[in-house]
Amino acid sequence: MISADEPAAAEAAAARLRAGGLVAFPTETVYGLGADATDGAAIARLYAAKGRPRFNPLISHLPDPAAAMRLGIFNAAARALAARFWPGPLTLVVPKAPDCPIASLTTAGLDTVALRVPSHPVAQKILRAAARPIAAPSANRSGRVSPTRAAHVLADFPDALDLIVDGGPTEVGLESTIVACVDETPVLLRLGGLAREAIESALGQPVARVLSAGEAPQAPGQLASHYAPRATIRLNATHVARGEALLTFAGARPDGADGAAMTLDLSPRGDLVEAAANFFSYLHRLDASGARAIAVVPIPEQGLGEAINDRLRRAAAPRPPSR
Ligand code: TXA
Ligand code: MG
Repeated sequence: MISADEPAAAEAAAARLRAGGLVAFPTETVYGLGADATDGAAIARLYAAKGRPRFNPLISHLPDPAAAMRLGIFNAAARALAARFWPGPLTLVVPKAPDCPIASLTTAGLDTVALRVPSHPVAQKILRAAARPIAAPSANRSGRVSPTRAAHVLADFPDALDLIVDGGPTEVGLESTIVACVDETPVLLRLGGLAREAIESALGQPVARVLSAGEAPQAPGQLASHYAPRATIRLNATHVARGEALLTFAGARPDGADGAAMTLDLSPRGDLVEAAANFFSYLHRLDASGARAIAVVPIPEQGLGEAINDRLRRAAAPRPPSR
């Protein structure tokens, strides 16, 4: 733990982040658990530290609106909200820019990205020094309450983090409000530190409300919250059929593997953190190979294997009919 008043605190935090480390820091809403959003392995370690049983897409934090706007495609509504509320407790979900360097694990494989420009001076300093997007979910273990003081962070993570920057209690105490500006109509995905009325008055129009995962099922087709491959996913495969692509782990070679349309190994050395870092990009690549199905070998149900299996099971489940 280091006080934000130490002269070199922001530089120390940025150096750890740039080296792939995990750094907790204050924002105006809650303390965030930061990792380099462009580094899949760092994001996998962040998931492991939080103990999240699922991969949810994460918010990438930037020091100023210009840096954020380089990473996504901002329509008129997104530009209006960014101009009015950034820096501040607002997160915008927008389509990823074509050359966006954010790792696929950070966005959980989606082609949209969540961006936020926090106003807290300590967060600003760290983000400026890091000079890259920093993913930061709330700095609590999965299922615990969001931390508004450095002591809360330390209680949840006595030794799993590289650094905790203590900037005193946070001001807002509620997570940022999330608005998706992907289609014509802006959609409120999460209520938070910025009131709905403020958003609607800035836009001059009402925003649709979609309950996010955990609150209620999403309206089908309204806003894809999970990446779904085109190919069929076949789990716990012990053989590979003709025309199938193969997603394997730890060098496993099921029967028929030689005939696979394409094969990718999530981690030849059997490391589940490395497997998580590769997971979404490998799924995309196998899907893009044009194979009708992707056979997946059994993945150990431990550590990050739990989140990988959760996502695989949902990808393998029958699809709701498309519109
Ligand atoms: O105030 C906050 O926003 C805090 C501080 C630390 O900045 N951060 C935070 O992050 O709450 P996190 O990871 O707990 O919240 C991420 C939320 C999730 O509900 C996720 O579903 C949503 O953002 N999200 C992220 N990317 C998304 C996307 N591409 N599409 C839809 N929802 C997305
Ligand atoms: Mg949280």
